[in-house]
Amino acid sequence: MDTRALTPVSTRTAPPDEPGAALVVTGDELLLHELLPLTAAADVTPQVVDRAEQALVGWSRARVVLVGLDRAGELAALGPDYREHVYLVATAHVPDDAFRTALALGARQVVELPVSAGWLVDLLTDLTEQGADRGQVVGVIGGSGGAGATTLACAMGQWAARRTTAALVDCDPQGPGLDRMLGMERCEGFRWDALCRTTGRLSARALRDALPRRDGLGVLSWYVGAEQQTLQAFAVREALSAARRGHGAVVVDLPRSGDRLVAEIAARCDRLVVVTQASLVGVAGAARMRGRFADHPAVGLALRGNDLEGGDVARAVGAPVWTQMRDQRGLDEAVDLGLGPLRSLRGPLARAAQDLWDGGPA
Ligand SMILES: Nc1ncnc2c1ncn2[C@@H]1O[C@H](COP(=O)(O)OP(=O)(O)OP(=O)(O)O)[C@@H](O)[C@H]1O
Ligand SMILES: [Mg+2]
Repeated sequence: MDTRALTPVSTRTAPPDEPGAALVVTGDELLLHELLPLTAAADVTPQVVDRAEQALVGWSRARVVLVGLDRAGELAALGPDYREHVYLVATAHVPDDAFRTALALGARQVVELPVSAGWLVDLLTDLTEQGADRGQVVGVIGGSGGAGATTLACAMGQWAARRTTAALVDCDPQGPGLDRMLGMERCEGFRWDALCRTTGRLSARALRDALPRRDGLGVLSWYVGAEQQTLQAFAVREALSAARRGHGAVVVDLPRSGDRLVAEIAARCDRLVVVTQASLVGVAGAARMRGRFADHPAVGLALRGNDLEGGDVARAVGAPVWTQMRDQRGLDEAVDLGLGPLRSLRGPLARAAQDLWDGGPA
């Protein structure tokens, strides 16, 4: 299934006074005919103006400006202010002097259609989705087996969803299934198996709309009926990129046993939380995990239990303790009731989630 099919494709253009994410300047019908399906595929409703002087109104507000070859000379003659993300677009063979005009306009590139159609959709997707809600991605991993990583990942997702659009990404095919942890296993929506069958660029909105979601928290998890499931590199890359562009916060549950793909996912996370039991075995496991991610610039610990001092653990592991928590009572019951680990906003898990979003780690 192509997830783009989930996004209604229209070729509507924004009215002239609506500040468009994309400004298109052209009077060339043929060019518009090529261009509008591409903006639609990127979930962008452009503001289209026919004459060069009309372009000056939205010139600096639009995130990206596409100038048709037919209006490029006139527009350059008006001397608009220099700005980022201006592109010259043409349907036919581009004449040599177009590059001089592009330079005069401060355009980055001359885009020839339909040859560069895919490239242009990607560019529009990136530029227009970026600013709105580009989320922080936090990876959660256990220092040793059963440390509480999956539980904390869910709690962090539930906490974040109170303030912003949040997504939980389940990268552990051997885990319990994050949708099940949250009582969302019956919720309709995309799971990894469907994502692995998609091709092409996944728009942030398509992913956001397609994920099973409750109370603002979307979950990308595993399909329960499938026999053997593994992470597919291309699907993970697309999903993480689209999740980051379309959510204010993204939490990734990482498996402890890992190959290069797990290392790559961890590298894509802005921060890595290693969940650790406050015990000698727990600390030894966390130290090994710290070594595995030695190159990552932001690794910290979520310490479970009070048997060891946070400062001692930080020194032993070589990473700061971002939060330390007592065991959460009634956890199994809350999960059995389908409420997820964060049943209430008080209690050790809620405080830990809050620490991790608001507190120490920059
Ligand atoms: N904060 C907590 N307070 C009390 N019990 C917890 C807490 N976190 C996890 N547990 C319990 O510990 C067990 C393991 O939790 P969880 O599955 O979250 O760990 P994990 O690190 O993801 O394990 P795995 O190595 O299998 O991925 C569960 O039974 C869970 O109820
Ligand atoms: Mg787990």
